Amino acid sequence: MGVCGIVGYVGHRPALDVVLGGLRRMEYRGYDSAGVAVLDGAGRLTVERKAGQLANLEAELDAVGRDGFAGTAGMGHTRWATHGAPVDRNSHPHRDATERVAVVHNGIIENFAALRAELEAAGVELSSDTDTETAAHLIARAYAEGDTAGDLPASVRAVCRRLEGAFTLVVTHADRPDLIVAARRSSPLVVGVGAGETFVASDVAAFIEHTREAVELGQDQLVVITRDGYTVTDFAGEPAQGRPFTVDWDLSAAEKGGHEYFMLKEIEEQPDALANTLRGHFDGSGIVLDEQRLADQDLRDVDKVFVVACGSAYHSGLVAKYAIEHWTRLPVEVELASEFRYRDPVLDRDTLVVAVSQSGETADTLEAVRHAREQKARVLAVCNTNGAQIPRESDAVLYTHAGPEIGVASTKAFLAQIAANYLVGLALAQARGTKYPDEVAREFAELEAMPAAVRKVLSTTEQVRDLGRRIADSKAVLFLGRHVGFPVALEGALKLKELAYMHAEGFAAGELKHGPIALIEDGLPVVVVMPSPKGRGVLHAKLVSNISEIQARGARTIVIAEEGDDRVRPFADELVEIPAVPTLLQPLVSTVPLQVLAAEIARTRGYDVDKPRNLAKSVTVE
Ligand code: F6R
Repeated sequence: MGVCGIVGYVGHRPALDVVLGGLRRMEYRGYDSAGVAVLDGAGRLTVERKAGQLANLEAELDAVGRDGFAGTAGMGHTRWATHGAPVDRNSHPHRDATERVAVVHNGIIENFAALRAELEAAGVELSSDTDTETAAHLIARAYAEGDTAGDLPASVRAVCRRLEGAFTLVVTHADRPDLIVAARRSSPLVVGVGAGETFVASDVAAFIEHTREAVELGQDQLVVITRDGYTVTDFAGEPAQGRPFTVDWDLSAAEKGGHEYFMLKEIEEQPDALANTLRGHFDGSGIVLDEQRLADQDLRDVDKVFVVACGSAYHSGLVAKYAIEHWTRLPVEVELASEFRYRDPVLDRDTLVVAVSQSGETADTLEAVRHAREQKARVLAVCNTNGAQIPRESDAVLYTHAGPEIGVASTKAFLAQIAANYLVGLALAQARGTKYPDEVAREFAELEAMPAAVRKVLSTTEQVRDLGRRIADSKAVLFLGRHVGFPVALEGALKLKELAYMHAEGFAAGELKHGPIALIEDGLPVVVVMPSPKGRGVLHAKLVSNISEIQARGARTIVIAEEGDDRVRPFADELVEIPAVPTLLQPLVSTVPLQVLAAEIARTRGYDVDKPRNLAKSVTVE
C-alpha cells in the first residue's frame, strides 16, 4: 500500500514541472508536507521542502526563485508522517552531510535506531528525526568508499540489503544527473516508460498524463531509470524483470487504484494496513510504543483502563476490552468520548485512558483527553495521523499505520485500531507481568498472521456483494453477535446506516429475547456473527439457538461463520465463511464481509460511498 506519494523523472522536460504535476496528481492521498529535488547537468542538486500543502512548497519555490531548478532530472515527495512530526526539517528529500545525495522514502525502516546510532558513532550529525535520513547518509558513505565507490546503483543495493522493514526509496546523486535509482520492499513502485523520458512513482496517477506504459517492480527489486529506459536488478545485482502493463484507467480511477471508490480501495488495503500497524512494534523481547513519555512504573501502577473514542473507533475499543481484560486482569471501561467528561468519571493518576482516533482531531475525543489529564490520569493515544492534536496532548502514542483514509466511513483505520489497541493490551500485560515474554511473543505472532487471513476473506467477497444486491431494497437489517462478535455487529450496523442510509441495529444476541426479538418479521435480514465452535463452544451453541428462534419467526438469516462450522449451516439462509482464527482476533476477519456488504448495498441504491450525506471525515466540533 502507499502512504507517501513519490515521483521521480529523467527526461527532456523541465523536471520541476513534471514532478510538481505528479505530486498534484497524488494529492488525493492526503499528506502533511512536500518536497522536490532537481539535478542539473552542472552537478548541482537543489532541494526545497515545506510542511503543509503543496501550495506552501510552490510559494516557497516562487520566493527563492525557480532558477536553481533548471534540470531535466528530479524527484518529489508528499509525506504522511511516520517517524518525526510533520515539520520542514522532517520533510523529504533528505540529504547526506555533503548534500550530494538526496533520498525520498515511503515506508518504515525498522532498524533505523541501530543505523542511526552507528552513524552517530561515526561522527555523522543527523538533522531530522526521520528513519529516511539514515538511508541518505549510508548511501553517501557507500558511494564514497569501498567496493561500491562511484557506483550509485551498487551503493543503493548495498544499503537496501541492510535495511529492515518496508520501503520505497528513490535516490539521486549530484554526480549522476543522467539517472535515478529506485528500490522497493513491501511498498509500491512503478516505472513509467515514455519517449525519451522515464518515470518512477509510488502510483501510476503520478505519470498517467505522460505515458500509459508502466512496469510494476517485484519484491526486493531495484531499478535504474535514464531518459532512454530502465534496468531492473535484485538487491544482489542480478538481472531481474518487472511486470510490464498498460494503464487503461482514467485518472480518477487511477487515483483509486482501479476501484470505483476510495473506500473499496481502502477495504482492499486492510492486510497492508494491519501489517504496517504491527511493523516495528515488537523488538524480539517485547512490545514497543511509538512515543513513550510515561515511565514503565506508571504502566505498572495502572489499576483501571478507560478507552474513549467515537463511532468506529469506539467499536474498536469495545473489541479490545475483551483482550485487554483477559491479558492484564485490569478492569476496562469503554466509553463514548462525547459522554465521558459529562458524567464525572472516577479518574486518578493510576488510571490509563486510551484515546482512539483515526484523525487525532475529533473534538469529543480531544475534550475527553483534556478532562482525563486534568484529573491526573495518564493518556495514551492510538492515532492514524502523526502530529495531530490528540497525540500531541497525550503521554504516550501508538500510531496505526493504516495510511491516509479518504473514504469518510472508517474501514482500514478501524482494523488498524483493533490491532493497535491489542498492542496496548500486550504492552500493559508485559509491564505488569501478567503475561510472560514468550506469551507476548506468541500473541504478537498470531496478530502477524492476520493480514494473510484478511487477504483470504478479501478473495471471496463476490458472494457478499451478490447478497448485498439482493437485499438492497430491505427496509432494515439487524446485526447480532456475542463476545467480540457483539462490537462487530455494532460496526456492521453503523456501516450500513452511514453508507446505505438504511435502518440498521446491532445487538448482543443474548439481549434479543429481552426486547428486540419483537422486531423480527417475515423476510427481515438478520446478520449473525458466529463465534468459533472451538474457541467459545458454549456461546456457539447459544447463538445457534438464537438463530433458530429468529429463523422460526421468519427472519432471513445471514450467518458469518468459521469455515467448516456445520452446526450452524441448517439455520443459515445465507452462509458466509471466514477463516478460522484465534477467538480474540476474529473481529479482524468478521468485520470485512460487513464492510463489503454495506458498500455494495449503498452502491446498488446509487449512493456515493466515499461521501455519505451529512457526514464529515474529521469531526472537529463537539
Ligand atoms: C464511521 C466513522 C466515524 C469515526 C468517528 C471517529 O465509519 O468513520 O464513526 O470512526 O467519527 O473518528 P476518529 O477516529 O477520527 O476520531
